[in-house]
Amino acid sequence: MIDVQSAEQRIAALRAEIDAHNYRYYVLDAPTLADAEFDRLFRELQQLEEVHPELISGDSPTQRVGAKPSLAFAAAQHRLPMLSLNNAFGDEDVDAFDRRVREALEVDSVDYFCELKFDGLAINLTYEHGRLVRGATRGDGSEGEDVTANIRTIKSIPLRLVGENLPSTIEIRGEVIMLKNDFLALNQRQREAGDKEFVNPRNAAAGALRQLDPRMTEKRPLRFFAYGVGANGGPALGETHAATLAKLRDFTLPVNTLSATRTGLAGLLSFYGEIASIRQQLPYEIDGVVYKVNRIAAQTQLGFVSRAPRFAIAHKFPAEEALTEVLDIDVQVGRTGTLTPVARLKPVFVGGVTVTNATLHNEDEIRRKDVRIGDTVSVRRAGDVIPEVVSVITGRRPVTAREFVMPTHCPVCGSNVNRLEGEAASRCTGGLTCSAQRKQAILHFASRRAMDIEGLGDKLVDQLVDGNHVQSPADLYDLTPNQLQELERMGEKSATNLIAGIEKSKQTSLGRFIYSLGIRNVGEATARDLSSHFGGLGALLDADLAALQEVPDVGPVVAQSIVEFIREPRNVAVIESLQQHGVAWAESSPGFTAKAELPLAGKTFVLTGALATLSRDDAKLRIEAAGGKVTGSVSKKTDYVVVGEEAGSKLTKAQELGVTLLDEPGLLALLNQK
Ligand code: IVH
Repeated sequence: MIDVQSAEQRIAALRAEIDAHNYRYYVLDAPTLADAEFDRLFRELQQLEEVHPELISGDSPTQRVGAKPSLAFAAAQHRLPMLSLNNAFGDEDVDAFDRRVREALEVDSVDYFCELKFDGLAINLTYEHGRLVRGATRGDGSEGEDVTANIRTIKSIPLRLVGENLPSTIEIRGEVIMLKNDFLALNQRQREAGDKEFVNPRNAAAGALRQLDPRMTEKRPLRFFAYGVGANGGPALGETHAATLAKLRDFTLPVNTLSATRTGLAGLLSFYGEIASIRQQLPYEIDGVVYKVNRIAAQTQLGFVSRAPRFAIAHKFPAEEALTEVLDIDVQVGRTGTLTPVARLKPVFVGGVTVTNATLHNEDEIRRKDVRIGDTVSVRRAGDVIPEVVSVITGRRPVTAREFVMPTHCPVCGSNVNRLEGEAASRCTGGLTCSAQRKQAILHFASRRAMDIEGLGDKLVDQLVDGNHVQSPADLYDLTPNQLQELERMGEKSATNLIAGIEKSKQTSLGRFIYSLGIRNVGEATARDLSSHFGGLGALLDADLAALQEVPDVGPVVAQSIVEFIREPRNVAVIESLQQHGVAWAESSPGFTAKAELPLAGKTFVLTGALATLSRDDAKLRIEAAGGKVTGSVSKKTDYVVVGEEAGSKLTKAQELGVTLLDEPGLLALLNQK
């Protein structure tokens, strides 16, 4: 056994090392240590602390999760009140805000610090001499609930701050959120356990923070972003908000990097536009951006009106949820015959567009949410995703509300509808004799990520199938310009272009080809895996269940779908016909991923500024390994600009051209996707 003194030293070293790794993992999103290695350090610390319990301290990384549940949360008084923000819903509101600020400060233009508005819960962390002593919810602004035990389970929140001359007391203000992926995984677990699912990450985060047993909170991973300071017993951290946040970052507090200093109205609106364009790709939900006057002296001069500062405003994105009425429930027949109930809605403006339909997924979903025709429902539309019915306002249900009944026959072809044991979906049994399925199969075949036939949209496919010009995807290759010109809204030029597009699609890759066949359960990534595993189509068509399951990520369900597909003579006939029409690809050796099938194939990147963890060369190598290209200058052809610290004119150029901006975590997320 080692003596107490060296145990003490080793414990201190292990704690510092574990904190540093947690910081790299949870704050910088750039771990430098394998999980197993981290676990080894953690166990060593635990064992040492077991032998020397007198050396255990509350800020040890082993002490994040308390063992005892509490009975209730105590009240927690904030030293300085936690305020809210006024909202701007349009450019005019932002213009008015900027004007008020300029007039009050008697200046012509103002520098603002622009941040994300996180959709989570406001939290106040109190640190005394660098030690986290309390975490509290906002409550009524003056007094919240003491949720310290739960806050301590959030690994991105340091239990002790790093740095010299730490303030005797400081309140750190920020937002607790749940990442979208963690939310989905949590709901999956809830579903499997038969528990209630959460409506959105915000509610899930609130639920996690309100657990009386911190061991439960720990199972629902939360994140934190600091965006300000409350009471501060030490000297001001900086002359500007930007400098203050930089200081918080030095303390190892997590501060989001998607922020910028901008001048005047035009600067603010460009920030809003940039963030709006990448919002869906962010790993967490935001509901707008926040503009704050950057100079602290100017902030003080502007002061507050009632409960909100005059120096800041939240510029909100259009609401993604709204109430409307279900006029009817129809069913749509999909590519694999799945009957999807769709709510026909009284038009409602949500997420920036007018929504008239929302998917209800399947019969079980309708029962679970208890949606009836005539109900008032909450509809959600986030970004480009299909609008969906979130919940029913049962209090507003009219007595005339009717329940939905799944049809027993396909509304398109009249074939029987089947619902297999253990499956949620009801299916039309008509297969490719059902024109709805044929249309969807052809649209999928032609889609951008499949055979990429430009100009073949749904209106055209409707006409081609209804007019009996096309029965299967292979028939597309027999179409003539004359045939096309007879269709509605088809001039000579569009007909020639479409024929050229169809011709061009013949040269493809095996991965795209497999994906285009529309095999149930075979998405793009699986199609790519199948292509690189088998190397050629012949080997895939000969594969049996066991051979298919040797492909990474292919389990029994996917293998079964593939076997069903390739054992169906009609499908094999279509495949042969496609090859006879000249559809071809370069065969590769098994196990080799062709460049065109890599996830970033065809994407052009420009790097600017210094990234926090990756060197320029590393970033370039990793992008190229994923099939992307790195060039030196920004143009309209650039797909992404990766922005680091002190980015220069390339960033400005990218903003002018509206190129998608990525920060380092954004780049890493893209590289890590399949
Ligand atoms: S600053 C004095 N910055 O929005 C200003 N708040 O409506 C206090 N929020 O309760 C807030 N992201 O929960 C600020 N970057 C951000 C924010 C943010 C989200 C939330 C916060 C606050 C609410 C105000």
